[in-house]
Amino acid sequence: MTKPTPTEIGHGYDAFADLLDQIWGENLHHGYWDDTFDETSLEDATNRLTDKLSGLLTIEPGDRLLDLGCGIGEPAIKLATAHDIEVVGVSISERQVQRANDRVASAGLAGRLSFQLADAMELPFPDESFDIVWALESLHHMPDRWHVLRQVARVLRPGGRVAIGDFLLVSGADGQEPDAARVREVSKGVLSIVGIDEYLSNIRAAGLVPEAIEDVSKHTQPSWGKAAVRFEALRDQALPHIGAEQFELTLSRFHGFSEESTLGYVLLTARKPV
Ligand SMILES: C[S@@+](CC[C@H](N)C(=O)[O-])C[C@H]1O[C@@H](n2cnc3c(N)ncnc32)[C@H](O)[C@@H]1O
Repeated sequence: MTKPTPTEIGHGYDAFADLLDQIWGENLHHGYWDDTFDETSLEDATNRLTDKLSGLLTIEPGDRLLDLGCGIGEPAIKLATAHDIEVVGVSISERQVQRANDRVASAGLAGRLSFQLADAMELPFPDESFDIVWALESLHHMPDRWHVLRQVARVLRPGGRVAIGDFLLVSGADGQEPDAARVREVSKGVLSIVGIDEYLSNIRAAGLVPEAIEDVSKHTQPSWGKAAVRFEALRDQALPHIGAEQFELTLSRFHGFSEESTLGYVLLTARKPV
């Protein structure tokens, strides 16, 4: 199976919208747990991951932040509630953009936050127009992460920073060798990941200087298993929307990811030199 195009990804998110709410909650990203005894709910754990990533940044009042792959706007709303900043979010899903704009209007934040349909591969923003770019669990969907990072470097002002949460190829449990091809196989062709050295050299090649690097794989690992349990419970509701084939494919991906210990997760920040 080949990697879906941005348009197909957008249609997928549109079709899965109601199910995703029931699987992940308002944040469409992994959770963060302290250890295997931590019984924090998936909803609270996903908020925690947002806090972990924002904690790696210094966010100043008045900063202008671009949220690349904004979902239904929850991380952006959390950031803008905690800090007096302006946010522009983009998603490739029309329905997400609509929902994110509705949600900020209800929260009385429409003056500072806005969301629009756009492909991160071709960002429709002028050079040097943002202080911060935020990409939480969205780069893995994009046809070329490194091209997107070059776009990020273009729209950041000198001294601006990017914050990334992304999947990472790591050494697995019991010394299992990292194997990108195996992860790709488990994902049925949709997920390409690289190790930290390759990731950092592409950040540098895009003209950015890596700053914070946190491998949080052990903390995010429970996410897929918890999502699989919730997804399986939604079978009857899901079948009329996505059909049996898509349901089984998605469920087998969730189980495969949950068992693949070389599929890790990294939080990163980088700065555009002045
Ligand atoms: C796993 S969700 C994460 C959403 C959000 N960052 C969050 O944490 O709740 C991935 C997001 O990336 C967006 N996305 C995927 N490919 C994209 C592209 N080429 N351009 C813009 N957004 C994209 C999806 O529409 C979705 O909003």
